[in-house]
Amino acid sequence: MPRFRFRNFMSKLRIGIVGCGAIGGSLARSIARDFSKRAKLVAFYDIDIQRSRRLSEIFSKNKSLAVFGLKELIKRSDLVIEAASSDASWEIAKEVLAGAKALMIMSVGGVAAHVKEISMLAQKHKVGVYIPSGALCGIDAVKAASIAKVKRVILTTYKNPVSFRGVEYVQKQKINLNKLKEDKVLFFGSAKQAVKYFPQNINVAAVLSMAGIGIDKTRVKIIASPFVKRNIHEIQLDSEAGRIFSRTENILHPDNPKTSFLAVLSAIAVLRQILEPVKIGT
Ligand SMILES: NC(=O)c1ccc[n+]([C@@H]2O[C@H](COP(=O)([O-])OP(=O)(O)OC[C@H]3O[C@@H](n4cnc5c(N)ncnc54)[C@H](O)[C@@H]3O)[C@@H](O)[C@H]2O)c1
Repeated sequence: MPRFRFRNFMSKLRIGIVGCGAIGGSLARSIARDFSKRAKLVAFYDIDIQRSRRLSEIFSKNKSLAVFGLKELIKRSDLVIEAASSDASWEIAKEVLAGAKALMIMSVGGVAAHVKEISMLAQKHKVGVYIPSGALCGIDAVKAASIAKVKRVILTTYKNPVSFRGVEYVQKQKINLNKLKEDKVLFFGSAKQAVKYFPQNINVAAVLSMAGIGIDKTRVKIIASPFVKRNIHEIQLDSEAGRIFSRTENILHPDNPKTSFLAVLSAIAVLRQILEPVKIGT
């Protein structure tokens, strides 16, 4: 099954980016710098037109790459990268796939409940869908182990208490986040519930669930820790193939402290897998 509809064998992969924030901007820079022989930026779309215009000015002096709507971006692209929001990612995915264009999804939380539909749409329109591992290491092993029997998967997230300010679920527990002297478990339950109560944890829980045993069976523990400055994610998996433990200590993205730097790098690594002939890892 072809993953892209290349216009001809020698042509560059035309890439459009939806969402011109921390991830969209970093990916655009990397595409222009690292992949210019095999890919080119053709369109940027953002609900805030100033953002897409600003990004366009960096990469094209003659012609604006900023478009006014998703439809125009889809028309120009072979591959669309969604880096906008979890509220919009499912709608964007449907439109891109209906336009028979390949898709990379960053706002994974928004599509976690639609995995089967995405797979059906991708098959129907004969295009690929790419979901980077994001801010988690070990997804390669989770994917492989899940081919055999998996007994349990637990994601434990440690974040500094300030990260949970304003989270309604925490406010209801009447925990004084400023006065924590030790680790405090804020939540332990299914990934489905975690995604509901902790939307800022949504992408890691969603990617892990999709790679492994699904959003109902994956367990998530969320800990406020006064001892950490980075966002830390640990995966524990017990399976027929053995035990897996991974720990990722994420440095935050300078343009958006809610986003981990590794999430951007992971998307660049997926682009490399797409564009280069040798594929490494599962
Ligand atoms: N998969 C992962 O591991 C991972 C990690 C971090 C962030 N993310 C997700 O990636 C997305 C982008 O993250 P970011 O740090 O770049 O955020 P950001 O806030 O810096 O940028 C998002 C941009 O998208 C635009 N936008 C919002 N809704 C839109 C829509 N419907 N159509 C077009 N543009 C829209 C905003 O105006 C903004 O410019 C977020 O949804 C975030 O949750 C995923």
